Amino acid sequence: MRLLKEKIVSEGKVLSENVLKVDTFLNHQIDPLLMQAIGEEFANRYKDAGITKILTIESSGIAPSMFAGINLGVPVIFARKRKSLTLSGNLYSSKVHSFTKGETNDISVSKDFIGSEDIVLIIDDFLANGQAVLGLLDIVEQANAKTSGVGIVIEKGFQTGGSMVREKGIRVESLAIIKSLADGKVEFVEESPS
Ligand code: G4P
Ligand code: NA
Ligand code: NA
Repeated sequence: MRLLKEKIVSEGKVLSENVLKVDTFLNHQIDPLLMQAIGEEFANRYKDAGITKILTIESSGIAPSMFAGINLGVPVIFARKRKSLTLSGNLYSSKVHSFTKGETNDISVSKDFIGSEDIVLIIDDFLANGQAVLGLLDIVEQANAKTSGVGIVIEKGFQTGGSMVREKGIRVESLAIIKSLADGKVEFVEESPS
């Protein structure tokens, strides 16, 4: 997605060979017009997939998911990382290990919101080692629902998550795939223009 790649190049900060900071439009300040375009792009790619629910994880997955939800006309559910006052019992939960942060968190979703009739699109901001997506896939499985695919804003193609999820036979649509962050520069995997 050209608009997104241009934004990454102009505003992204390469913090190390492994980490890209995009706090000006995705992870802290949010660019609503860019999110709208991202949501339209996800919706366009999955418009014939029969999606009934979008599942993401708080917090940075919510903004792109909302715009995809508007365009697909389906509800957006975000998995919670912390226990909430009103969310108790009746939960699907899964463990998500972050290699980046060196910690494991429980994520949870109320059983009220995903059922066996659902066809789910999983959306997240970054795909790195794939642990968050695996946790969300696990929750969809627990619900006996179907995952139609995964939509990712920025995939770090040099980390293992993308191939791990695709090897399971799951469709992954990433709007920008980074080949390398070496020498402080962002290099993308080339793809057909869209
Ligand atoms: P994984 O799920 O793919 O295995 O990812 P990992 O544990 O490595 O990532 C942990 C957190 O760091 C996630 O956000 C993920 O989106 C984010 N992340 C991973 N790599 C990068 C990167 O290069 N740049 C940025 N900006 N973020 C990255 P989170 O903790 O769930 O936070 P949030 O959703 O509340 O923002
Ligand atoms: Na995230
Ligand atoms: Na994030």
